[in-house]
Amino acid sequence: MEFLFVFAATAVAALALREPLKRCPVAFYALACAVVVVFLAGANGLLSGSWWKPAIVLVQRCMVALSLFAVVMLIGALPKGSKLDAWLRPVRAELSIVACILCLGHMCMYLAPYAARAVAGTMGAPMLASFVVAVVLFVLVLLLGVTSFGFVKQRMGGRTWKNVQRLAYPFFGLAWAHLMFMLAPAASKGGEQALASVVIYTMLFAFYLVLRLYRAYRDKRAGSLSA
Ligand code: HEM
Repeated sequence: MEFLFVFAATAVAALALREPLKRCPVAFYALACAVVVVFLAGANGLLSGSWWKPAIVLVQRCMVALSLFAVVMLIGALPKGSKLDAWLRPVRAELSIVACILCLGHMCMYLAPYAARAVAGTMGAPMLASFVVAVVLFVLVLLLGVTSFGFVKQRMGGRTWKNVQRLAYPFFGLAWAHLMFMLAPAASKGGEQALASVVIYTMLFAFYLVLRLYRAYRDKRAGSLSA
């Protein structure tokens, strides 16, 4: 349920802030980096007081980053020429970079303890599978984030860049798998909140899939009609 509010607020903020984001993306990247640094410092006991705690909401559970990734993916599934498409497509790369920065905070928080357990050999098979998914997600976030910068795109050939960006599809699928690894154990033991989260995340990913397949079908039809 919580995620639905975060998602709605993030989507509204993306729409409302699209012009300043396009005009001065570096300010948004700097703000996201500052939030992550404050979060990591606070979570590791380097900050006193509780002023930094709002950063927990923004970074620790990764809901804002996931919402931004979902907005970025949904932009790619919107009907071409629609109003939403015209508003959001120009800031797709910028939204993706902000999402990657916030997500890095989440990943840095959890990757080290996971890796320590993997090295110590104290992981069962489900945990190990979840760790492998997390490592792949980590690599994909770095790749997708770096290649979203305009200057990197210019230096890569158009085709190579497109191929790298296509990794967004497995990334999004693995993000769903990651959420299921995190939530399914509690949901299967009767945890109502975890079960509600499983349903909500699954509905979001299924909605995206249906919209994207419909868009591919429409593009194909338009292509064959104009050929
Ligand atoms: C190195 C990669 C990653 C690691 C090690 C990792 C680890 C974790 C852990 C341990 C939790 C449970 C936290 C808790 O119980 O409070 C969690 C939750 C979560 N992760 Fe990740 N994660 C990674 C990547 C990602 C990515 C790439 C995304 C988004 C695209 C993501 C989205 C989430 C979300 C939304 C939750 C909260 C689920 C909920 O409570 O409803 N994570 N992650």
